[in-house]
Amino acid sequence: MSNSALIKSSIAKKYWMAVTGLFLCLFLVGHLLGNLQLIMKTGEEGRRAFNEYAYFMGHNIFIKIMSYITYASIIFHAVDGILLTIQNKKARPVNYVYNNPSANSSLPSRWMAILGSLILVFIVTHMANFWWKMKISEEIPLHTYYSQTAKDTVYYTLNKKQISVKDIREKGKIEGEKIFYSSKKFNASLENEINQEIIKARNQAEQTGQNINPLDIEKFKTESMEKYSMKEDELIDEGYKDLHTVVMQFFNKDKNPRAIFYLIIYVISMGVLAFHLWHGFASAFQSLGLNHAKYNILIKKAGQGFAVIIPLLFALIPILIFIK
Ligand code: HEM
Repeated sequence: MSNSALIKSSIAKKYWMAVTGLFLCLFLVGHLLGNLQLIMKTGEEGRRAFNEYAYFMGHNIFIKIMSYITYASIIFHAVDGILLTIQNKKARPVNYVYNNPSANSSLPSRWMAILGSLILVFIVTHMANFWWKMKISEEIPLHTYYSQTAKDTVYYTLNKKQISVKDIREKGKIEGEKIFYSSKKFNASLENEINQEIIKARNQAEQTGQNINPLDIEKFKTESMEKYSMKEDELIDEGYKDLHTVVMQFFNKDKNPRAIFYLIIYVISMGVLAFHLWHGFASAFQSLGLNHAKYNILIKKAGQGFAVIIPLLFALIPILIFIK
């Protein structure tokens, strides 16, 4: 490649590094705001808020598109960065005699490729810990709990289907020992399953001498689940995945013997991220040609503030979960 072609391709690579890098900064802000719910609300309220948030993030079409752009940006940013580093090395195989790295560039700038690679390793392992459980594997528990005060308790049957008491009371009718539903939400196999549970429970009750009304279904429940959808009438077929418990247990020293190890990895990674952003943020503006003598110092300071505050708040999340 001729020298000018090399420079042109370097400029293009820098441009796209900047665009994807700034987009990833936006992602960090959004991700941080969502994750802060893990420490801002406690107990059942916090669990519910975070699981509802995770459900929304997984089902909103706009967020889904943003997620795919995020994945593409991470891959593009990493590959582009590696290619740029190789290209720069090739273009200048021997260091200039007058090259004095500490005078010519700040420490993070020379370390950008190494820091970026470490962040990539962090992202891959981090996604294996949480994202994989949430999106791909079926390992994740559902958010189930029983509340005496729930207006509409949803029962969770052996086949992991949900049925609401309100529906049973409003739409069910009893014929002999069986309940029949007029609601379209229930198919024949679900109806059959509920009836099987009622018969089983009635048999058990008879053995212990109890007298049970078949519509008094609370006595037959195996597990129960409060419906906590924001929309009054919406039944969430697959249930809320309990991502909150997964994250909390991950960093909880009593529940996870490796929690201290994960905490250290996360805190170090946030330090690495801080260094990467320290240089990257302002440098992205430069690569996009958005630099102006008047604003350069402002952009630099804003970038440095971003580089410290965002990773610090991210690191605070596992620290607080661990020490509580
Ligand atoms: C240290 C605090 C952090 C916590 C507690 C945390 C937690 C989580 C959780 C629970 C998920 C799964 C969300 C879901 O699938 O619905 C997730 C996804 C993800 N996290 Fe983090 N995260 C942290 C920091 C970071 C950082 C610093 C980065 C980037 C450098 C990052 C990058 C990602 C990415 C790329 C995804 C996939 C996002 C998507 O599917 O749209 N996370 N994180």
